[in-house]
Amino acid sequence: MSKSRSGLRALRLGVNIDHVATLRNARGGIHPDPLRAAHLSIEGGADGITAHLREDRRHISDTDITRLKTELTRPLNLEMAATEEMLGIALRHVPNACCLVPERREERTTEGGLDVIGSLKTLKPYVAQLKDAGIRVSLFIEPDLKTIEASAKAGADIVELHTGKYCHLALDNDAVGVAREIERHRKAAAAAHGHGIEVHAGHGLTYNTVGPIARIPEVVELNIGHFLIGEAIFGGLSSAVRRMRQLMDDARAELGAHA
Ligand code: PXP
Repeated sequence: MSKSRSGLRALRLGVNIDHVATLRNARGGIHPDPLRAAHLSIEGGADGITAHLREDRRHISDTDITRLKTELTRPLNLEMAATEEMLGIALRHVPNACCLVPERREERTTEGGLDVIGSLKTLKPYVAQLKDAGIRVSLFIEPDLKTIEASAKAGADIVELHTGKYCHLALDNDAVGVAREIERHRKAAAAAHGHGIEVHAGHGLTYNTVGPIARIPEVVELNIGHFLIGEAIFGGLSSAVRRMRQLMDDARAELGAHA
């Protein structure tokens, strides 16, 4: 695991480009192009690109995944449901990482984490086959200690902590709820790290909410999409990514100053 000069684990930024495809698909054409967005994100400081190939193909398409895999200069993190169809696609493309997420057709976005405890038996063979192909496997989970234990049993390399609830509470200015959620993330990150599992986090993060998550020392990657793509409308994608990158680095430096 890479460490910065201060000795702290470096914090990577994965930019999720799904909503560039949402906008493109609204008119059924080729503009705006998610691959161009990926290149601009990298120019702005993204360490990797994340894309979710949904069963209903509502945003990212199969062709997008092919183009991203062949043309990207940084690692691709493929978000997908644990299904036979998606497993076949992942094994064909061999992205750097696969993040297994729960998926329901009617949801607007990935609402809640994977039920790793309840679906341990089903998940295990997916994790094993992806790992055998040299793909790092991440499970998108709530920051819950029992779910972390189950993730270790599933053989996950990584857990991505679902920050959605924290971000909602922050939007509602619920300071007590925010403090409780940050504490849950802290404990979950430490527990996962103790199991030898790499810790990522994401969902709903903005300029205002990224700091407390970036200050959790075990977290080594954040995946951020919707907010950055929205901000890109006002000031461009590279500059939105650059600002997010700066806020992450500032939070990390603060952590170093208090270490
Ligand atoms: N991580 C995972 C696993 C996700 O499913 C998503 C949403 O696609 C994100 C991160 C990014 O969330 P947001 O678009 O709210 O930043």
